[in-house]
Formats: sequence, structure tokens, C-alpha cells
Amino acid sequence: MHNSFLGDLIGKGSNRHVYECALRNDLVIKYETKTGLFHNVIEHEVWKMTLVNDLPLKKYLAPVHSISDCGRWLIMHKTTPVNHEEYPDELPRFFWEMGHDNFGMFDNRFVCHDYALNAGHLYGLSDKLTPARWGMKDKGPYNV
Ligand SMILES: Nc1ncnc2c1ncn2[C@@H]1O[C@H](COP(=O)(O)OP(=O)(O)OP(=O)(O)O)[C@@H](O)[C@H]1O
Ligand SMILES: [Mg+2]
Repeated sequence: MHNSFLGDLIGKGSNRHVYECALRNDLVIKYETKTGLFHNVIEHEVWKMTLVNDLPLKKYLAPVHSISDCGRWLIMHKTTPVNHEEYPDELPRFFWEMGHDNFGMFDNRFVCHDYALNAGHLYGLSDKLTPARWGMKDKGPYNV
């Protein structure tokens, strides 16, 4: 990624560093710090599938703007933080990592901006709701 695209670092997860986009303040740039996980690629695939097929799950996802050839860099629409009291009680069972920091607001909607680890292989890209178990980083919001 050319340095002139990268703005300030705004977030750090276990696998990705997230930067402001210096050219557009409605976008962020996600850099995958480890190889072999392909979380950017998964996010892009999920977004593309929901978009192309106009799936209801789409409204719960921060849209992906674009991805680099090998997936190391992902450009995503920026979300804004939400007060914890305002988090919904239910969300699609598709979501797996229920950390508060994986969600935010986009376009007046409550969305997930970290959906690479998801339950899509169990349930598909369904928007079926289940109680949200906030704080459950690894177990997800549902019982299997
Ligand atoms: N689209 C976005 N808009 C605004 N901030 C974001 C966006 N995506 C990520 N962030 C910020 O960057 C942080 C790290 O991003 P993300 O959670 O996607 O990384 P990760 O390495 O996959 O995280 P984890 O450790 O949860 O697996 C988030 O917790 C959030 O604060
Ligand atoms: Mg995260």
C-alpha cells in the first residue's frame, strides 16, 4: 500500500492493524499482520456474496470497499463506536466473535466490522437471530 493512502492507526486486533484512509474519511484500511489466516479475504468473500445475492445478512455487515491482489490489505467502510448499553440483545447466529470492539454503527445501522471468524460454515449466510452473548470472544452467540 502506498504510504500516501495510510492515515493514523485507529485500531489493533490480534491479526490486523487498522488505519484511517488518508484520501477518504469514510473508509479504513485493514492490514493483516500475520500470513496464512486470510481474514481479509474471508471478509471480502462474505461481503461479496451477501451483496451480489442481496442477502438480508448484508445489513449487519460493514461494507467492504476493495481488497488488494493477495489480500494483505482491505479497504472497508468506517464504523463509529456505540455505547455498550445500546448493543442489541439479538443478532444473526452467523456472528461468532462477540467482542464489543468488533461492532459499530454504519449508515444508522448496528453492524459488524470484524466478521472473518464466523459461523457461516455451520449455518450459511443466514440472518436468523439468536441471543447475543456479549463478551464471548470465542464461543459465539449460540448453542450448537
Ligand atoms: N470498519 C471499521 N471502522 C472503524 N474501526 C474499525 C473497522 N474495522 C476495524 N476497526 C477497529 O480496528 C480494530 C481491529 O480490527 P479487527 O477487529 O477487524 O482486527 P482483528 O485482528 O481481526 O481483531 P480480533 O483480535 O478481534 O480478531 C477493531 O477492534 C476496531 O476498533
Ligand atoms: Mg476484532
